[in-house]
Amino acid sequence: MSDTDTILQVDKLSSGYGRSRVLFDLSLAAGRRGAIAILGRNGVGKSTLLKTLAGEIRPMSGTIRFDGIETQGEPTERRARRGLGYVPQDHAVFGKMSVRENLLLGAVGQSDKSNIDYVLDFFPKLAQRLGQTAGTLSGGERKMLAISRALLGRPKLLMLDEPTEGVWIGVISEIADRLRDLTKEMAVILVEQHIELALDVADYAYVMDRGQIAMQGAADAVKSDPQLLKYLSP
Ligand SMILES: Nc1ncnc2c1ncn2[C@@H]1O[C@H](COP(=O)(O)OP(=O)(O)O)[C@@H](O)[C@H]1O
Ligand SMILES: [Mg+2]
Repeated sequence: MSDTDTILQVDKLSSGYGRSRVLFDLSLAAGRRGAIAILGRNGVGKSTLLKTLAGEIRPMSGTIRFDGIETQGEPTERRARRGLGYVPQDHAVFGKMSVRENLLLGAVGQSDKSNIDYVLDFFPKLAQRLGQTAGTLSGGERKMLAISRALLGRPKLLMLDEPTEGVWIGVISEIADRLRDLTKEMAVILVEQHIELALDVADYAYVMDRGQIAMQGAADAVKSDPQLLKYLSP
């Protein structure tokens, strides 16, 4: 991938908590459109990877090039302003605030509040819940709100940590459809336990094992590779 086609280039990234290392020399890349999936069992380091890319954790070594600039030393806030959107696995919405307040907070610093109309068109269910506190939303609606808040920052790259976790099965396909829509406008990194969905939305997949990339390839190829089960079965 040439620099102009690449939104994210991660090289030999090592990261963790205190002295405990979780990611080992991990490299990956994402283009400016489409989605890459990050798969792997519980505890292999998927969330740690996204936290490190977002800037919540400083890497021990390695480089993260985001939109042409080395970003591993930048604070979270600057990465976000440069177009790095992040929906963490938990705590992505303020439960005691209304849906409207959550959206307004997501739009802080944005001169153009019409973007709120855009996300409400995108997730019409939220438009009917504007006055309701976020804590009373269903799992799916809460994920939609969290994604909407990230979209208000007009990201170039949106990182989603398990966007269908705790979501009723009947709503999962709706979220998948929206993610597919997003990949036409921006780059998406999708961490998902729902393998079928992830490989359906993504063009390319990385499979992690013990803090490293164990397997990677075009989503279709990964889907039909018998090795995949080895890295996903408990
Ligand atoms: N805040 C933390 N402090 C110390 N260790 C952590 C912390 N968060 C996660 N870990 C450890 O890092 C490893 C990877 O966790 P995580 O990135 O959450 O995996 P995944 O998202 O793939 O399930 C696990 O061994 C986990 O126990
Ligand atoms: Mg996780």
